[in-house]
Amino acid sequence: MNILVVGGGGREHAIIKKLKEDPRAEKIFALPGNGGIAADAACGGVAATDVDGVVAFAKENAVDFVVVAPDDPLVLGMVDALEGEGFPCFGPRKNAAIIEGSKAFSKDLMKKYHIPTAAYEIFSDLDAALRYVDSCPIPTVVKADGLALGKGVLICQTREEAKRAVRSMMEGKMFGESGSKVVIEEFLTGPEVSVLSFTDGETIVPMVSSMDHKRALDGDLGLNTGGMGTVAPNPYYTPDMAAVCMEKIFLPTIRAMKAEGRAFKGCLYFGLMLTPEGPKVIEYNCRFGDPETQVVLPLLEGSLLEIMLAVSEGRLADTEVKFSEKSACCVILASQGYPQKYEKGFPISLPETGEDEYIYVAGAVEKDGRLLTSGGRVLGAAAVAETLPDAVGKAYKLAGQVRFENAFCRRDIGQRALEALQRQG
Ligand code: AMP
Ligand code: GLY
Repeated sequence: MNILVVGGGGREHAIIKKLKEDPRAEKIFALPGNGGIAADAACGGVAATDVDGVVAFAKENAVDFVVVAPDDPLVLGMVDALEGEGFPCFGPRKNAAIIEGSKAFSKDLMKKYHIPTAAYEIFSDLDAALRYVDSCPIPTVVKADGLALGKGVLICQTREEAKRAVRSMMEGKMFGESGSKVVIEEFLTGPEVSVLSFTDGETIVPMVSSMDHKRALDGDLGLNTGGMGTVAPNPYYTPDMAAVCMEKIFLPTIRAMKAEGRAFKGCLYFGLMLTPEGPKVIEYNCRFGDPETQVVLPLLEGSLLEIMLAVSEGRLADTEVKFSEKSACCVILASQGYPQKYEKGFPISLPETGEDEYIYVAGAVEKDGRLLTSGGRVLGAAAVAETLPDAVGKAYKLAGQVRFENAFCRRDIGQRALEALQRQG
């Protein structure tokens, strides 16, 4: 089978490595891939958002199955275009990807179907939004409606700050057209949990839970990033909590999407906050999380390809999805200065990986046979072990063996999870 994976980050590298374990995977292509992914897949020079280019590539290379991993091509309707040309895909169609593509859509969906989430108001008019900020509870959260590279959420401690946020999104076009509509919502508190799930629109199977570390610096300080590390499972997500989430959030969501004529097929990501009143949805993503995938897929037992085919063919109910009882940790090595200004072009030296160790490359190019840094997040060092403390230790040991000039990582990935485990005894 010839498989095409659209995307080119650490998440896609993890997907490709897992797909390769199935003997049916003959040739794997990545568009655009990256210098590190090139060790595991044939990378082509087509951008992940180039819908026509990807369709043409699939035709030219006799592709049998396509995995569309990033949000932008999904929201643009890449799956619709590929399916229209007869290519089976893993990933939601445009009318379902809107669950991530528009926060206003997802908030209204949750309200209509009584799925727990933060209270909110939606505004397309600047003055109305500013008037609302005069009387809303503080702190408050201002969100751009559309995709904003994960940066469209501003938590505001004062009314002045909230007004500035509203103005910069609606007037200053800080996120382009994505901010012409804003959602202003209630500030929630509690531990956050990421739950990725497989769904074919009828059946939903949650994967092992995980915990992201979004801030750039230790102790959850500094700017928001694309994610500086992850652990799985997330100790806050107990079996009781999982049962509540299934009943109150997961099943109602896929039923709601089906009822709206927007059946969701692919990976549906639930960003949850475990508030004192119970779990609430912070966000939906229409795709695998990054870097959650880098800890979730190493714990998947059996074939990812088989599950993806089952999702695409609507037979997930008859397919086994099993996760190991072990734990995983991924430490992101970034370029000093990320998520703001950073230098790139430094040679990377990678260690040999042992059993249950993985290097997932996100921002690197190959030049004259050498791997050079090309992005803010350069790679993830991931490891699986019997216990969470061992997985964290192993991932940091692996990360310590990676060399490039301006490397930095957080030193406390997994710390909060370990403390939670200790409190649970
Ligand atoms: P998002 O891009 O929607 O994942 O939001 C980024 C981060 O902002 C989340 O991971 C939360 O930590 C935080 N956040 C988003 N919405 C809220 C909210 N209503 N209350 C508190 N924190 C929030
Ligand atoms: N790790 C958060 C995301 O993928 O959106």
